[in-house]
Amino acid sequence: MNEMPVRNNLDAFWMPFSSNRAYKEQPRMLARAEGMSYFTPDGREVIDGTAGLWCVNAGHGRREITEAIQKQAAILDYAPSFNMGHPIAFQAAAKVAELTPDGMDRIFFTNSGSEAADTALKIALAYHRARGNAQRVRLIGRERGYHGVGFGGMSVGGIGPNRKQFGAQLPYVDHLPHTHAPNQQAFSRGQPEFGAHFADALENLVALHGADTIAAVMVEPVAGSTGVLIPPQGYLDRLRALCTKHGILLIFDEVITGFGRLGTHFGSEHLGVVPDILTMAKGLTNAAVPMGAVAVSEAVYTTIVEGAPAGIELFHGYTYSGHPLASAAAIATVDLHKSDDLPGRAAAIAPYFADAAHGMKGLANVIDVRNLGLVAGIELAPREGKPTDRAMAVFRRCFDAGVLIRTTGDIVALSPPLIIEKPHVDRIFETLSDAIRAEAA
Ligand SMILES: Cc1ncc(COP(=O)(O)O)c(C=O)c1O
Repeated sequence: MNEMPVRNNLDAFWMPFSSNRAYKEQPRMLARAEGMSYFTPDGREVIDGTAGLWCVNAGHGRREITEAIQKQAAILDYAPSFNMGHPIAFQAAAKVAELTPDGMDRIFFTNSGSEAADTALKIALAYHRARGNAQRVRLIGRERGYHGVGFGGMSVGGIGPNRKQFGAQLPYVDHLPHTHAPNQQAFSRGQPEFGAHFADALENLVALHGADTIAAVMVEPVAGSTGVLIPPQGYLDRLRALCTKHGILLIFDEVITGFGRLGTHFGSEHLGVVPDILTMAKGLTNAAVPMGAVAVSEAVYTTIVEGAPAGIELFHGYTYSGHPLASAAAIATVDLHKSDDLPGRAAAIAPYFADAAHGMKGLANVIDVRNLGLVAGIELAPREGKPTDRAMAVFRRCFDAGVLIRTTGDIVALSPPLIIEKPHVDRIFETLSDAIRAEAA
């Protein structure tokens, strides 16, 4: 019998954050992955310069994680976590708590970074209400911040296009200024010297609204999705001090800085500032199964839980909170981070990666390079009247030449798996510089 050729119909899948029309005209497929590389359906290797979407930190196809998921699927496919339990969810929480900053050992599971962000905001509100401060409802984010796509994260986030299409936002939200000051910071290696004072804007918001109306400040330690903004030296310490002074909870969204990206398990450790609430996702399961989580300080947990009347203490949760397959993946991932010292590997290669990134300085149209840990942002001058055009052209050239990069606006963001080695770094930056040169016009 003749086999009918299978035509892949691309119509049904409404792709997220994508130009559906352009993509479906000219699709780019990734069919398989291993270690540092993807492979296209026709077998062409594409080096992964972005760890998927900042998430496959341990590298692709890690056998330890895959086998843990397979094994768990055969033991217990699903069990609820609402007033019920299954052992592996408790084990996963305890495992994750081995990596979180000291004293932040209470873990609430979600399924994504967006859900983790909204959960963190709700926990902050519940905390103040439990303390008798129900008027503390204001949530402060930051311009250019990204906290996913739920109404909480979208509203507290500060990326215009992600908000404008949807009109209604959460009320009682305000924003700190972003920390990007190219005139003073361009081509800084690591944390820029200029910009700690941007944190002082919190005093202005306190003066405007009254500290007793503000529940929390939420920021990414390193802003990723907006195009890599590295916190200026002293900025996060100042934010921490101001939050403490005014009784405001500090939330770090560590969805991309968690799990080794900056050379420590969490960014908080590398940057020396401990928040009250910390969100994570992505690297938590090495992206093999969706999962997010929120870690909170003992004070936040006990205030909400121990202070509540008998019964449910927090009216919040997801059908899949602590899902057995995700829990299995998280345990295996944490074990891998420890056994292979993935943060240590990231820290060891970070200077070489930084040198390669800053080697882009001087190429036509490169107007800034910024880096921290295994994150780099290379900002290109936009084409006259055609923002994003140059970066997209560079992206396509790199893909065709076998390297996956990511772009936001006209910024190239690189965040490779932490298992990257020097030849991969060389290959990624050679390919990128060739593409930038080719798009000089
Ligand atoms: C800092 C940050 N928070 C939240 C999210 C949202 O995560 P998810 O896409 O899993 O909902 C992301 C995703 O890129 C992120 O970078």
